[in-house]
Amino acid sequence: MKALVWHGEGDIRLDNVDDPSIIDPTDAIVRVTRTAICGTDLHFIRGTMAPMKEGTILGHEAVGEITAVGDAVRRFAPGDRVVVSSTMSCGVCWQCRAGHTAQCDNANPNGPQAGTCFFGGPGSTGPVDGLQAEYARIPWASNTLTALPDNISDEQAILLSDIFPTAWFGAQLAGVQRGDTVAVYGAGPVGQFAIVSAFRQGASRVFAVDGIDTRLVLALDQNAEVINFNREDPVQAIMEATLGIGVDAVIDAVGVDAQRPRSGPAAADSEQQADEFGQEVAQVAPKTNIQGENWVPGNAPSQVSQWSIETVRKYGRIGIIGVYSPDLMSYPIGQAMNKNLTIRMGNCDHRSVTPPLLDLVASGVFDPTRFITQHEPITDIVDAYLSFDRREEGWLKTVVAP
Ligand SMILES: NC(=O)c1ccc[n+]([C@@H]2O[C@H](COP(=O)([O-])OP(=O)(O)OC[C@H]3O[C@@H](n4cnc5c(N)ncnc54)[C@H](O)[C@@H]3O)[C@@H](O)[C@H]2O)c1
Ligand SMILES: [Zn+2]
Ligand SMILES: [Zn+2]
Repeated sequence: MKALVWHGEGDIRLDNVDDPSIIDPTDAIVRVTRTAICGTDLHFIRGTMAPMKEGTILGHEAVGEITAVGDAVRRFAPGDRVVVSSTMSCGVCWQCRAGHTAQCDNANPNGPQAGTCFFGGPGSTGPVDGLQAEYARIPWASNTLTALPDNISDEQAILLSDIFPTAWFGAQLAGVQRGDTVAVYGAGPVGQFAIVSAFRQGASRVFAVDGIDTRLVLALDQNAEVINFNREDPVQAIMEATLGIGVDAVIDAVGVDAQRPRSGPAAADSEQQADEFGQEVAQVAPKTNIQGENWVPGNAPSQVSQWSIETVRKYGRIGIIGVYSPDLMSYPIGQAMNKNLTIRMGNCDHRSVTPPLLDLVASGVFDPTRFITQHEPITDIVDAYLSFDRREEGWLKTVVAP
Protein backbone atom coordinates (compact mmCIF):
# COMPACT_ATOMS: atom_id res chain seq x y z
CA MET A 1 0.00 0.00 0.00
CA LYS A 2 1.00 3.66 -0.26
CA ALA A 3 1.92 5.51 2.92
CA LEU A 4 3.70 8.73 3.85
CA VAL A 5 6.90 7.78 5.66
CA TRP A 6 9.24 9.90 7.84
CA HIS A 7 12.82 9.32 6.77
CA GLY A 8 14.47 12.25 8.52
CA GLU A 9 14.07 15.95 9.29
CA GLY A 10 13.00 17.56 6.00
CA ASP A 11 12.66 14.13 4.36
CA ILE A 12 9.22 12.57 3.91
CA ARG A 13 8.33 10.22 1.07
CA LEU A 14 5.28 8.47 -0.29
CA ASP A 15 6.53 4.87 -0.13
CA ASN A 16 5.10 1.49 -0.98
CA VAL A 17 4.99 -0.44 2.29
CA ASP A 18 3.47 -3.71 3.50
CA ASP A 19 -0.23 -3.67 4.38
CA PRO A 20 -0.75 -3.70 8.16
CA SER A 21 -2.11 -6.79 9.88
CA ILE A 22 -3.64 -7.63 13.25
CA ILE A 23 -0.88 -8.06 15.85
CA ASP A 24 -2.77 -7.93 19.15
CA PRO A 25 -6.31 -9.25 19.72
CA THR A 26 -7.37 -5.68 20.64
CA ASP A 27 -6.41 -4.39 17.14
CA ALA A 28 -8.56 -3.57 14.13
CA ILE A 29 -7.56 -2.77 10.56
CA VAL A 30 -9.15 0.26 8.92
CA ARG A 31 -9.24 1.10 5.23
CA VAL A 32 -8.63 4.85 5.34
CA THR A 33 -11.13 6.85 3.27
CA ARG A 34 -9.93 10.27 4.44
CA THR A 35 -6.85 11.44 6.29
CA ALA A 36 -5.55 14.96 6.92
CA ILE A 37 -2.40 16.97 7.51
CA CYS A 38 -2.06 18.65 10.91
CA GLY A 39 0.23 21.34 12.32
CA THR A 40 1.52 18.66 14.69
CA ASP A 41 2.96 16.73 11.72
CA LEU A 42 5.01 19.79 10.78
CA HIS A 43 6.91 19.78 14.10
CA PHE A 44 8.31 16.31 13.29
CA ILE A 45 9.65 17.35 9.88
CA ARG A 46 10.95 20.71 11.08
CA GLY A 47 12.73 18.82 13.87
CA THR A 48 11.05 20.64 16.78
CA MET A 49 9.45 17.52 18.29
CA ALA A 50 12.18 14.89 18.33
CA PRO A 51 13.39 12.20 18.13
CA MET A 52 11.37 10.43 15.48
CA LYS A 53 12.15 6.88 14.39
CA GLU A 54 13.02 6.45 10.72
CA GLY A 55 10.36 4.46 8.86
CA THR A 56 7.41 5.70 10.94
CA ILE A 57 4.26 6.29 8.88
CA LEU A 58 3.04 9.83 9.60
CA GLY A 59 -0.48 11.07 10.27
CA HIS A 60 -2.91 10.91 13.18
CA GLU A 61 -6.24 11.88 11.64
CA ALA A 62 -8.44 9.39 9.78
CA VAL A 63 -11.90 8.22 8.88
CA GLY A 64 -12.45 4.84 7.33
CA GLU A 65 -14.08 1.46 7.15
CA ILE A 66 -13.11 -1.51 9.28
CA THR A 67 -11.78 -4.45 7.26
CA ALA A 68 -10.71 -6.78 10.09
CA VAL A 69 -10.96 -7.01 13.88
CA GLY A 70 -8.93 -8.92 16.47
CA ASP A 71 -10.57 -11.56 18.67
CA ALA A 72 -10.96 -9.16 21.61
CA VAL A 73 -12.81 -6.47 19.63
CA ARG A 74 -16.48 -7.07 20.37
CA ARG A 75 -18.15 -3.79 19.46
CA PHE A 76 -17.13 -3.48 15.79
CA ALA A 77 -17.27 -5.65 12.72
CA PRO A 78 -15.86 -5.39 9.20
CA GLY A 79 -17.83 -2.86 7.18
CA ASP A 80 -18.39 -0.41 10.09
CA ARG A 81 -17.64 3.27 9.36
CA VAL A 82 -15.50 4.84 12.05
CA VAL A 83 -13.56 7.95 13.02
CA VAL A 84 -10.14 7.25 14.53
CA SER A 85 -9.14 9.20 17.64
CA SER A 86 -5.59 10.59 17.24
CA THR A 87 -4.67 9.35 20.70
CA MET A 88 -5.05 5.68 21.61
CA SER A 89 -6.73 4.53 24.81
CA CYS A 90 -7.73 1.24 26.42
CA GLY A 91 -11.00 2.42 27.96
CA VAL A 92 -10.58 0.44 31.18
CA CYS A 93 -7.65 1.91 33.16
CA TRP A 94 -8.29 4.58 35.79
CA GLN A 95 -7.19 7.41 33.51
CA CYS A 96 -9.53 6.30 30.71
CA ARG A 97 -12.47 5.82 33.07
CA ALA A 98 -11.88 9.34 34.39
CA GLY A 99 -12.05 10.61 30.81
CA HIS A 100 -8.28 11.29 30.65
CA THR A 101 -7.88 9.13 27.58
CA ALA A 102 -4.75 10.95 26.35
CA GLN A 103 -2.95 9.61 29.42
CA CYS A 104 -4.14 6.00 29.23
CA ASP A 105 -1.98 3.73 31.40
CA ASN A 106 -1.96 0.89 28.86
CA ALA A 107 -1.81 2.34 25.36
CA ASN A 108 1.80 3.55 25.19
CA PRO A 109 4.09 0.57 24.52
CA ASN A 110 6.84 2.41 26.45
CA GLY A 111 4.93 1.91 29.70
CA PRO A 112 2.45 3.71 31.94
CA GLN A 113 4.73 6.69 32.66
CA ALA A 114 5.54 7.35 29.00
CA GLY A 115 2.58 9.66 28.43
CA THR A 116 0.36 10.07 25.39
CA CYS A 117 0.35 7.41 22.69
CA PHE A 118 -0.68 8.80 19.33
CA PHE A 119 -0.44 7.70 15.70
CA GLY A 120 2.59 8.69 13.65
CA GLY A 121 4.51 10.41 16.46
CA PRO A 122 8.02 10.40 18.00
CA GLY A 123 9.57 7.30 19.54
CA SER A 124 8.38 8.26 23.03
CA THR A 125 4.73 8.07 21.88
CA GLY A 126 5.10 4.48 20.71
CA PRO A 127 5.88 4.88 17.94
CA VAL A 128 2.72 3.60 16.31
CA ASP A 129 2.49 3.80 12.52
CA GLY A 130 0.22 6.63 11.43
CA LEU A 131 -2.84 7.15 9.31
CA GLN A 132 -1.62 8.89 6.14
CA ALA A 133 -1.85 5.56 4.38
CA GLU A 134 -4.32 3.36 2.55
CA TYR A 135 -4.75 1.04 5.55
CA ALA A 136 -3.91 1.38 9.23
CA ARG A 137 -3.60 -0.87 12.24
CA ILE A 138 -5.61 0.56 15.14
CA PRO A 139 -4.42 -0.64 18.57
CA TRP A 140 -7.02 -0.67 21.38
CA ALA A 141 -9.67 -0.44 18.68
CA SER A 142 -12.67 -0.80 21.01
CA ASN A 143 -11.93 2.56 22.58
CA THR A 144 -9.82 4.33 19.94
CA LEU A 145 -12.51 4.05 17.27
CA THR A 146 -15.90 5.75 17.36
CA ALA A 147 -18.76 4.60 15.12
CA LEU A 148 -20.08 7.16 12.64
CA PRO A 149 -23.76 7.73 11.93
CA ASP A 150 -24.71 7.71 8.23
CA ASN A 151 -25.59 11.38 8.20
CA ILE A 152 -22.03 12.49 8.98
CA SER A 153 -19.89 12.64 5.83
CA ASP A 154 -16.25 11.57 5.71
CA GLU A 155 -15.25 15.22 5.21
CA GLN A 156 -17.13 16.25 8.34
CA ALA A 157 -15.84 13.32 10.35
CA ILE A 158 -12.18 13.85 9.53
CA LEU A 159 -12.28 17.10 11.51
CA LEU A 160 -13.53 15.12 14.52
CA SER A 161 -10.49 12.85 14.46
CA ASP A 162 -8.29 15.48 16.08
CA ILE A 163 -8.65 19.20 15.58
CA PHE A 164 -12.23 20.04 16.55
CA PRO A 165 -12.01 17.94 19.75
CA THR A 166 -8.57 19.43 20.50
CA ALA A 167 -9.85 22.98 20.18
CA TRP A 168 -12.93 22.17 22.27
CA PHE A 169 -10.65 20.64 24.90
CA GLY A 170 -8.50 23.80 24.75
CA ALA A 171 -11.50 25.98 25.57
CA GLN A 172 -12.36 23.60 28.42
CA LEU A 173 -8.78 23.76 29.73
CA ALA A 174 -9.05 27.55 29.67
CA GLY A 175 -12.29 27.23 31.66
CA VAL A 176 -14.28 29.35 29.21
CA GLN A 177 -17.54 30.47 30.80
CA ARG A 178 -20.55 32.50 29.74
CA GLY A 179 -19.58 36.12 29.22
CA ASP A 180 -15.83 35.52 29.12
CA THR A 181 -13.41 37.50 27.03
CA VAL A 182 -11.01 35.07 25.37
CA ALA A 183 -7.76 35.43 23.42
CA VAL A 184 -6.87 32.69 20.94
CA TYR A 185 -3.23 32.67 19.84
CA GLY A 186 -2.83 31.07 16.40
CA ALA A 187 -5.44 31.19 13.63
CA GLY A 188 -4.39 27.95 11.95
CA PRO A 189 -6.89 25.09 11.69
CA VAL A 190 -6.79 24.43 15.44
CA GLY A 191 -7.06 28.14 16.26
CA GLN A 192 -10.14 28.48 14.01
CA PHE A 193 -11.85 25.64 15.87
CA ALA A 194 -10.75 27.18 19.16
CA ILE A 195 -12.65 30.33 18.21
CA VAL A 196 -15.73 28.21 17.37
CA SER A 197 -15.36 26.37 20.69
CA ALA A 198 -14.85 29.50 22.80
CA PHE A 199 -18.01 31.12 21.39
CA ARG A 200 -20.02 27.89 21.78
CA GLN A 201 -18.85 27.55 25.38
CA GLY A 202 -20.16 31.04 26.12
CA ALA A 203 -17.44 33.58 25.32
CA SER A 204 -18.80 37.04 24.62
CA ARG A 205 -15.69 38.37 22.83
CA VAL A 206 -12.85 36.43 21.24
CA PHE A 207 -9.57 37.99 20.11
CA ALA A 208 -7.59 36.09 17.47
CA VAL A 209 -3.85 36.71 17.13
CA ASP A 210 -1.75 35.53 14.16
CA GLY A 211 0.69 36.97 11.63
CA ILE A 212 -1.11 35.75 8.50
CA ASP A 213 -3.85 37.95 7.09
CA THR A 214 -5.69 35.21 5.15
CA ARG A 215 -6.07 33.20 8.35
CA LEU A 216 -7.17 36.27 10.30
CA VAL A 217 -9.84 36.92 7.65
CA LEU A 218 -11.34 33.49 8.45
CA ALA A 219 -11.27 34.41 12.13
CA LEU A 220 -13.01 37.68 11.32
CA ASP A 221 -15.68 35.70 9.44
CA GLN A 222 -16.43 34.13 12.82
CA ASN A 223 -16.69 37.59 14.38
CA ALA A 224 -13.44 37.27 16.27
CA GLU A 225 -11.54 40.52 16.83
CA VAL A 226 -8.36 40.04 14.87
CA ILE A 227 -4.82 41.22 15.65
CA ASN A 228 -1.88 40.80 13.26
CA PHE A 229 1.25 40.69 15.41
CA ASN A 230 3.35 41.97 12.51
CA ARG A 231 1.37 45.21 12.51
CA GLU A 232 0.24 45.67 16.10
CA ASP A 233 1.61 44.75 19.50
CA PRO A 234 -0.88 42.06 20.60
CA VAL A 235 -0.32 42.82 24.28
CA GLN A 236 -1.08 46.49 23.82
CA ALA A 237 -4.03 45.79 21.52
CA ILE A 238 -5.69 43.32 23.91
CA MET A 239 -5.04 45.54 26.92
CA GLU A 240 -6.59 48.53 25.18
CA ALA A 241 -9.59 46.52 24.00
CA THR A 242 -10.22 45.20 27.53
CA LEU A 243 -9.77 48.62 29.13
CA GLY A 244 -6.53 47.56 30.83
CA ILE A 245 -7.99 44.44 32.47
CA GLY A 246 -6.85 41.64 30.17
CA VAL A 247 -8.91 38.67 28.98
CA ASP A 248 -10.47 36.08 31.27
CA ALA A 249 -9.06 33.16 29.33
CA VAL A 250 -6.34 32.42 26.79
CA ILE A 251 -6.06 29.46 24.41
CA ASP A 252 -2.57 28.79 23.01
CA ALA A 253 -3.11 27.15 19.61
CA VAL A 254 0.44 27.80 18.37
CA GLY A 255 2.98 25.72 20.27
CA VAL A 256 6.69 25.23 19.88
CA ASP A 257 6.99 26.59 16.32
CA ALA A 258 5.91 30.08 17.40
CA GLN A 259 7.37 32.96 15.44
CA ARG A 260 8.33 36.38 16.69
CA PRO A 261 7.05 39.52 14.96
CA ARG A 262 9.18 40.53 11.98
CA SER A 263 7.71 44.04 11.76
CA GLY A 264 5.46 46.40 13.69
CA PRO A 265 5.71 47.73 17.25
CA ALA A 266 6.21 44.29 18.88
CA ALA A 267 9.23 43.40 16.72
CA ALA A 268 11.79 45.43 18.69
CA ASP A 269 10.95 43.80 22.01
CA SER A 270 11.15 40.33 20.49
CA GLU A 271 14.37 41.20 18.69
CA GLN A 272 15.95 41.92 22.07
CA GLN A 273 15.17 38.36 23.12
CA ALA A 274 16.57 36.83 19.92
CA ASP A 275 19.46 35.14 21.74
CA GLU A 276 17.26 33.52 24.38
CA PHE A 277 14.77 32.38 21.74
CA GLY A 278 17.72 31.01 19.74
CA GLN A 279 18.81 28.93 22.73
CA GLU A 280 15.28 27.55 23.05
CA VAL A 281 15.29 26.53 19.38
CA ALA A 282 18.64 24.76 19.88
CA GLN A 283 17.12 22.95 22.88
CA VAL A 284 14.03 21.66 21.07
CA ALA A 285 15.49 21.13 17.59
CA PRO A 286 19.04 19.74 17.82
CA LYS A 287 18.71 18.61 14.20
CA THR A 288 16.98 20.46 11.37
CA ASN A 289 17.01 20.26 7.57
CA ILE A 290 15.84 23.60 6.21
CA GLN A 291 15.23 23.62 2.45
CA GLY A 292 14.56 27.12 1.14
CA GLU A 293 11.33 28.26 2.80
CA ASN A 294 10.43 24.76 3.97
CA TRP A 295 10.95 23.03 7.28
CA VAL A 296 12.01 26.21 9.11
CA PRO A 297 11.50 25.83 12.88
CA GLY A 298 9.68 28.67 14.64
CA ASN A 299 12.18 31.24 15.93
CA ALA A 300 10.52 32.01 19.27
CA PRO A 301 9.26 28.90 21.11
CA SER A 302 8.20 30.77 24.28
CA GLN A 303 6.77 33.87 22.56
CA VAL A 304 3.15 32.79 22.97
CA SER A 305 3.70 31.72 26.59
CA GLN A 306 4.92 35.26 27.32
CA TRP A 307 2.07 36.98 25.48
CA SER A 308 -0.51 34.66 27.08
CA ILE A 309 0.61 35.61 30.57
CA GLU A 310 0.83 39.30 29.72
CA THR A 311 -2.66 39.48 28.17
CA VAL A 312 -4.68 37.39 30.64
CA ARG A 313 -6.24 39.17 33.62
CA LYS A 314 -5.10 38.58 37.19
CA TYR A 315 -6.54 35.25 38.37
CA GLY A 316 -7.12 34.42 34.69
CA ARG A 317 -6.91 31.02 33.02
CA ILE A 318 -4.67 29.71 30.26
CA GLY A 319 -5.30 26.54 28.24
CA ILE A 320 -2.34 25.27 26.23
CA ILE A 321 -3.06 22.91 23.34
CA GLY A 322 -0.24 24.05 21.06
CA VAL A 323 2.31 21.24 21.20
CA TYR A 324 5.61 21.83 23.04
CA SER A 325 8.60 19.50 22.98
CA PRO A 326 9.42 17.85 26.32
CA ASP A 327 12.90 19.38 25.85
CA LEU A 328 11.67 22.98 26.14
CA MET A 329 12.63 24.29 29.57
CA SER A 330 11.48 27.93 29.50
CA TYR A 331 8.18 29.24 30.80
CA PRO A 332 7.64 32.61 32.54
CA ILE A 333 6.57 30.91 35.77
CA GLY A 334 7.33 33.91 37.98
CA GLN A 335 5.03 36.27 36.12
CA ALA A 336 2.30 33.65 36.09
CA MET A 337 2.66 33.00 39.82
CA ASN A 338 2.49 36.67 40.67
CA LYS A 339 -0.79 37.07 38.75
CA ASN A 340 -2.42 34.05 40.50
CA LEU A 341 -3.03 32.34 37.17
CA THR A 342 -4.47 28.90 36.50
CA ILE A 343 -2.64 27.15 33.67
CA ARG A 344 -3.86 23.85 32.26
CA MET A 345 -2.48 22.06 29.24
CA GLY A 346 -2.09 18.85 27.37
CA ASN A 347 -2.86 16.49 24.59
CA CYS A 348 -6.54 16.21 23.83
CA ASP A 349 -8.54 13.44 25.50
CA HIS A 350 -10.04 12.73 22.10
CA ARG A 351 -12.11 9.69 22.99
CA SER A 352 -14.02 11.46 25.72
CA VAL A 353 -14.36 14.84 23.97
CA THR A 354 -15.47 13.65 20.51
CA PRO A 355 -18.94 12.02 21.01
CA PRO A 356 -20.86 15.20 21.95
CA LEU A 357 -19.21 17.01 19.02
CA LEU A 358 -20.41 14.23 16.71
CA ASP A 359 -23.94 15.04 17.87
CA LEU A 360 -23.39 18.73 17.13
CA VAL A 361 -22.37 17.90 13.56
CA ALA A 362 -24.94 15.12 12.98
CA SER A 363 -27.78 17.39 14.08
CA GLY A 364 -26.71 20.05 11.58
CA VAL A 365 -26.02 22.63 14.29
CA PHE A 366 -22.44 23.14 13.10
CA ASP A 367 -20.72 22.11 9.87
CA PRO A 368 -16.95 21.86 10.40
CA THR A 369 -16.13 21.50 6.70
CA ARG A 370 -16.03 25.30 6.32
CA PHE A 371 -12.37 25.14 7.39
CA ILE A 372 -11.28 22.61 4.78
CA THR A 373 -9.50 24.56 2.06
CA GLN A 374 -7.71 21.75 0.18
CA HIS A 375 -8.74 18.30 -1.05
CA GLU A 376 -5.76 16.30 -2.32
CA PRO A 377 -5.19 12.74 -3.52
CA ILE A 378 -2.56 10.82 -1.53
CA THR A 379 -0.30 10.88 -4.59
CA ASP A 380 0.08 14.65 -4.03
CA ILE A 381 0.59 14.48 -0.27
CA VAL A 382 4.26 15.53 -0.23
CA ASP A 383 3.51 18.66 -2.27
CA ALA A 384 0.55 19.37 0.01
CA TYR A 385 2.85 19.17 3.04
CA LEU A 386 5.26 21.63 1.40
CA SER A 387 2.49 24.16 0.74
CA PHE A 388 0.95 23.81 4.21
CA ASP A 389 4.37 24.07 5.85
CA ARG A 390 5.08 27.32 3.94
CA ARG A 391 1.62 28.51 5.08
CA GLU A 392 0.88 29.31 1.45
CA GLU A 393 -1.94 31.77 0.94
CA GLY A 394 -5.32 30.06 1.14
CA TRP A 395 -4.01 26.82 2.69
CA LEU A 396 -5.71 26.03 5.96
CA LYS A 397 -6.90 22.46 6.46
CA THR A 398 -5.84 19.85 3.92
CA VAL A 399 -7.87 16.67 3.63
CA VAL A 400 -6.31 13.76 1.76
CA ALA A 401 -8.06 10.88 0.02
CA PRO A 402 -5.98 7.69 -0.16
N1 LIG B 1 -2.88 19.22 22.13
C1 LIG B 1 -3.29 18.49 21.13
O1 LIG B 1 -3.87 17.41 21.34
C2 LIG B 1 -3.10 18.97 19.73
C3 LIG B 1 -3.82 18.39 18.68
C4 LIG B 1 -3.69 18.94 17.39
C5 LIG B 1 -2.83 20.01 17.17
N2 LIG B 1 -2.13 20.52 18.22
C6 LIG B 1 -1.20 21.65 18.05
O2 LIG B 1 -1.93 22.83 17.81
C7 LIG B 1 -1.06 23.76 17.17
C8 LIG B 1 -1.77 24.39 15.97
O3 LIG B 1 -2.03 23.40 14.99
P1 LIG B 1 -2.46 23.86 13.52
O4 LIG B 1 -2.78 22.64 12.73
O5 LIG B 1 -3.47 24.94 13.60
O6 LIG B 1 -1.01 24.41 13.04
P2 LIG B 1 -0.53 25.62 12.13
O7 LIG B 1 0.94 25.54 12.09
O8 LIG B 1 -1.29 25.64 10.84
O9 LIG B 1 -0.99 26.92 12.94
C9 LIG B 1 -0.18 27.64 13.80
C10 LIG B 1 -0.52 29.12 13.62
O10 LIG B 1 0.18 29.87 14.62
C11 LIG B 1 0.57 31.08 14.02
N3 LIG B 1 1.64 31.68 14.84
C12 LIG B 1 2.99 31.51 14.77
N4 LIG B 1 3.60 32.27 15.70
C13 LIG B 1 2.62 32.92 16.38
C14 LIG B 1 2.62 33.87 17.45
N5 LIG B 1 3.77 34.29 18.01
N6 LIG B 1 1.42 34.34 17.89
C15 LIG B 1 0.24 33.95 17.31
N7 LIG B 1 0.19 33.06 16.28
C16 LIG B 1 1.36 32.56 15.83
C17 LIG B 1 0.99 30.67 12.62
O11 LIG B 1 1.04 31.77 11.73
C18 LIG B 1 -0.09 29.66 12.26
O12 LIG B 1 -1.18 30.26 11.61
C19 LIG B 1 0.20 22.99 16.80
O13 LIG B 1 1.20 23.21 17.78
C20 LIG B 1 -0.25 21.55 16.88
O14 LIG B 1 0.81 20.67 17.15
C21 LIG B 1 -2.26 20.03 19.48
ZN1 LIG C 1 -3.35 16.80 14.74
ZN1 LIG D 1 -6.60 3.38 29.42
